[in-house]
Amino acid sequence: MRILKTRKFWLPMFILMCFGLLNAPAWGDDDSIPHIVQKDGRYALFVDGAPYLMLGAQVNNSSGWPAALPKVWPAMEFMHVNTVEIPVYWEQFEPEYGKFDYSVVDTLLDQARDEKVHLVLLWFGTWKNGSNHYMPRWMKLDPDRYPNMIGADGKYIDSPSPVAKDTLAADIQAFTMLMRHLKEADPGHTVLMVQVENEPGTWDGVRDYSPAAQALFKSVVPGEVLAAMGKTGVQASANWRQVFGEDADEYFHVWCVSKFIGQVAAAGKTIYPLPMYVNASLRDPFKPGRPPKYECGGPNDNVFPIWKAEAPAVDLLAPDIYQRETAKYLKVLDYYQRPDNPLFVPETIGQGAYSRFLFAALGHGAIGFSPFGLDYTRSFETPSDPSMTAEKALTPTALNYELIGPMSREIARLNFEGKIQAAVDQRNSLEAKPETAPTTEPENPRLQPPDQVLHFESWDAPVWFRPMRRLETSPATMPAVPQPPNGRVLVGQLGDNQFLVTGLYSRIGFLPTGAAAKKPWQYLSVEEGAYENGVFKTSRILNGDQTDWGLIFRESPEVLRVTLYLR
Ligand code: DGJ
Repeated sequence: MRILKTRKFWLPMFILMCFGLLNAPAWGDDDSIPHIVQKDGRYALFVDGAPYLMLGAQVNNSSGWPAALPKVWPAMEFMHVNTVEIPVYWEQFEPEYGKFDYSVVDTLLDQARDEKVHLVLLWFGTWKNGSNHYMPRWMKLDPDRYPNMIGADGKYIDSPSPVAKDTLAADIQAFTMLMRHLKEADPGHTVLMVQVENEPGTWDGVRDYSPAAQALFKSVVPGEVLAAMGKTGVQASANWRQVFGEDADEYFHVWCVSKFIGQVAAAGKTIYPLPMYVNASLRDPFKPGRPPKYECGGPNDNVFPIWKAEAPAVDLLAPDIYQRETAKYLKVLDYYQRPDNPLFVPETIGQGAYSRFLFAALGHGAIGFSPFGLDYTRSFETPSDPSMTAEKALTPTALNYELIGPMSREIARLNFEGKIQAAVDQRNSLEAKPETAPTTEPENPRLQPPDQVLHFESWDAPVWFRPMRRLETSPATMPAVPQPPNGRVLVGQLGDNQFLVTGLYSRIGFLPTGAAAKKPWQYLSVEEGAYENGVFKTSRILNGDQTDWGLIFRESPEVLRVTLYLR
């Protein structure tokens, strides 16, 4: 076990940091370090000089210990994951004040390299799901120095105070030691990104009422918050309540939390500028209500500008999407794909038909996607599904990544160029009754109205997710058996008349648009194949039953390069 004593070094260092006396951070100067690039409002995570797509999975909360890793790596291999999200626990990392234990981080690095996967490290620091539960014992046992919040009723809340200066100092010190160690121990960049804290904020209260917080709440609102929230022309002396009325408590807490985390991230980034993000426990995208209905303080859609203003070292704000209704899921993707924010889904549901939302995220330009809790440390049975096994739980993600993995670099590049579109079956995953083959639809499947249409410059791509009557007897069909809403398609434009097409449980066609709208067209070729080292290798050319009624994707991973022409 390697332990470093640093108190003497870090105390003066911390004082310098607090007063801004260190050099301005030179974030992103070294192109060999993974970094995020923005072009025309689209984003890519550059790894080894090219856009990279994180096909991830997050382990269970207690699976970051060496003892648990034998139940992690086989699951990752089964799912074809290229990036594993795994926690670093402050209580393990700094068992005594100023003494740092790098042994677990080193084990993660060594084993990830052996497994040929990248890592995203999750800093379980001051906040983990709104609480201080991962703080080291020496902090928990010293609540006067590292206090929790005080609620409006004067009682302690199970959430760390975001205005506690010693907590901030300790977090900055530990986090910078982590980043310093990564810089030295990870020259090959096994670690691609770092999550700063985990779902920060507070569940059982809206803000801190400690004397220190009360004094700030009664003070003037900082200029950057006024500017960020579009509050120009308010009196310079106005306090939070006067400016924000009934939103004041929430916005104040968001300001406190984002300012704290912004400082932790900036300090770490000064040492080693890996991309950093903060994940959000989401409010309802349609009917949010007010906190404490949802966790208050994190980067929810209504407070983005405050987070962006207070935490510029945080590269992206990321939604943990556990929304089970399709419309809500898609709305969250809309909210977090912004010109000022790369979309990354660091936690979501991976089971069953929810796996189709990988495609929805890619259609929104996502740089990565990572279902939660997919390792072999736990049983997957639930009261609602006692038959769920680990294999059943992991298979949908495995199927996605088996399909997308070999061309993940191409997908990342096409997305960065704005050339990817996707569609998913929009029926609700749980509520939808599996559909049987329709009995009233036209015999000619070409006349069946599509469920969705993707629009490219000169071509439309109609998409069907429902089984087709005619095709019940065809050898080339989507299954005509009852289906959950599993359908997904992904289309990348390779040239004016050429597309990369893939999907599962779906059917897709093409139609010319614009001036050519009524013109007859045909497939020049539909090549089935795979990308190998960036080159599409054709294994066969599909035709006849395999193309006449549309391009049909069932449950096996198939990739097509489709070339169209007008007659
Ligand atoms: C969201 C958290 O961020 C995760 O660490 C984990 O606690 C999951 N919820 C559990 O569902």
